[in-house]
Amino acid sequence: MPTRLRPADLLRLTDEGANGVLDGRFDHLIPDAFPTLDRWSTRLHADDDVDVWLISWVPERNTELHDHAGSFGALTVLSGSLTEFRWAGDALVERQLDAGDQASFPLGWVHDVVRSTDAPGAPIEISSDAPTLSVHAYSPPLTAMSFYEVTDHRTLRRTRTELTDLPEGGTK
Ligand SMILES: [Fe+2]
Repeated sequence: MPTRLRPADLLRLTDEGANGVLDGRFDHLIPDAFPTLDRWSTRLHADDDVDVWLISWVPERNTELHDHAGSFGALTVLSGSLTEFRWAGDALVERQLDAGDQASFPLGWVHDVVRSTDAPGAPIEISSDAPTLSVHAYSPPLTAMSFYEVTDHRTLRRTRTELTDLPEGGTK
């Protein structure tokens, strides 16, 4: 089903979700301490057009290169920083997304996302007191993801496809 929403709508929804988390509106969904060993997520909203997730990121647990099948998406970084490696056709392009930054993902977007380390060579911070959090929206709601690897010929090879409604290659 085509979605009625546009990228700007998803950006707004992730912004509202982030504000809701800051305002305590989702405290009933959030643990006292975020897990420090694995990525954690909870669904903040779901309807026929969109689902919205809060994700807590931990160091060195990247998502692997993936797409979002027939969904497009958006995110707002709530705290901490994420590093995204996006496939640009013949190479991966890196960017950092800091607290307050937003990004949207059109159909066909292939990326790998990981929690940023504080600085090159810095000790990895795994305290649950300083979580790296982002709010993601997918429309239509996520149903599948394909995973990829970059070949020696600088092309993308699909390695597997999974039926999933969990965000960013999450496990639960
Ligand atoms: Fe993703």
